[in-house]
Amino acid sequence: MPKKKAINGDTPSEEKLLAILKICQKMNSKRDPALLLDLLAREAARLVEADRSTIFLLDKDKRELWSWVALKSEEIRFDARLGIAGAVAMSGEVINVKDAQQDPRFYLNVDQTTGYQTKSVLAVPLKNYDGEIIGTFEVLNKKKGTFNSEDQDILLALASNAAIAIETAQLFQNLKQHRDKLLEENTQLWREVEGKFATQHLLGTSEKIQKVVRLLEQISDSEVSVLIEGESGTGKELVAKAIHHGSSRARRPLVTVNCAALPETLLESELFGIEKGVATGVERRIGKFEVADGGTLFLDEIGDLSLVAQAKILRTLQENMVERVGGRKWIPVDVRVLAATNKDLEEEIRKNNFREDLYYRLKVIHVRTPPLREIRIDIPLLANHFLSLYCKEMGKGEKEFSPGAMESLTNYQWPGNVRELENEMKRLVVSIRKRVLDREHLSDNIRKSVRIDRKASHSLKEVVAETVAELEKEMILDALEACQNNQLRAAARLGLSRQGLFKKIKRYGLR
Ligand SMILES: Nc1ncnc2c1ncn2[C@@H]1O[C@H](COP(=O)(O)OP(=O)(O)OP(=O)(O)O)[C@@H](O)[C@H]1O
Ligand SMILES: [Mg+2]
Repeated sequence: MPKKKAINGDTPSEEKLLAILKICQKMNSKRDPALLLDLLAREAARLVEADRSTIFLLDKDKRELWSWVALKSEEIRFDARLGIAGAVAMSGEVINVKDAQQDPRFYLNVDQTTGYQTKSVLAVPLKNYDGEIIGTFEVLNKKKGTFNSEDQDILLALASNAAIAIETAQLFQNLKQHRDKLLEENTQLWREVEGKFATQHLLGTSEKIQKVVRLLEQISDSEVSVLIEGESGTGKELVAKAIHHGSSRARRPLVTVNCAALPETLLESELFGIEKGVATGVERRIGKFEVADGGTLFLDEIGDLSLVAQAKILRTLQENMVERVGGRKWIPVDVRVLAATNKDLEEEIRKNNFREDLYYRLKVIHVRTPPLREIRIDIPLLANHFLSLYCKEMGKGEKEFSPGAMESLTNYQWPGNVRELENEMKRLVVSIRKRVLDREHLSDNIRKSVRIDRKASHSLKEVVAETVAELEKEMILDALEACQNNQLRAAARLGLSRQGLFKKIKRYGLR
């Protein structure tokens, strides 16, 4: 008849107590639940001189007990009410059985799966810190005789520490999996952001755009301030984004402040932050300089800053510290500043509207985005790019321009530059159903400008000549670069005489 054993007075020997202590120390260093269970099973079997040991954990949701059979690399699972392990998990009591095969609670299936023959069994519950049962700890087949009360005490002592260590290891593993998942998601998001900016980069094969592209590549690993000057719609903000996303600060924030959009009184607190109670009802708010800490601050329309704000910005840049409005301490910030303007800042300095010292501080590197009329060679490329972009975005089929329409686009003055071109493409995709876009579909001013331009002899011939010249210039510069400025070799590479190359260099002012 099976016998339930209560804990009696026999305490484990000093030697065994020391061994338990050592196992507990080892247990606490195991973070991987599988390794921990393996360690526990091996040590428990050794300590009570059993042939083997099994730990079953309770899956509360499924009401199942499960165990990992390391030798077979597989999991055993069964209803948590079955077997001796189940009886312990359900009742929370210790069970000591001398002959398992004769015990009505014995569940044969486990032996059948593992190919093992269980004779004697000692099973104790695994209880966590809150006293909840999280599984069963079993030792099987005592090597000599049957399990006694000392074995029972040893297994109980191990089990009470094991339950906590198992829960900690499981929690640790869950957290690790959760963290890995977040990291993976984060990397994926960054890939998307970077991919988006990679496809959004500055387009253009003209020498003027390529010069900007080369400059951005050169400064990609530097930290210096950059001043971007250019007419409205020429891609100043695009350049600022490209600089930030190509820099080592790319994974930190890019914060944009439009200096023209805010009245002077608000601008200061917007940039530097404000302390609570400066005026009634004012809450503490941190400024854009602090938000951009570690990243990049893009000061757009810097030409519109008041002289007071200019002085404050200059001081912040010199000290690498900000002072909140109404604040009494300086807060360190690590910010790279990019600035853009469509005003002629040198002219503003002459008119005493802009501080010269701030100008030089910002203009360590100077980028000029060219107006579209100066890079006509790029108009077909940009027009087709935006046309196909919006066709895709709005789910319309591919469209193309007739030669006449393209001629008008190339001849127009584009006072609103690339933005105006982009908007025209958007409008065409929305409003014209035809696949081939003709001159008549273009906005009035673009269509009309052709006639005026033609009369003013701003003809296709002229555009072609300009295009050829641009191409020729680019080829010469490429060849010179490839030949380390050796004119003789560059000439040979281009199929020109040295004299011929020299004339062209002079004509295009390349030296
Ligand atoms: N070289 C270029 N290649 C591709 N897209 C461009 C180029 N230049 C400008 N764009 C696009 O034109 C639009 C206007 O550019 P952006 O906003 O950068 O101009 P901006 O100079 O900042 O204008 P504003 O002075 O009016 O603020 C944007 O959609 C931008 O992506
Ligand atoms: Mg802008």
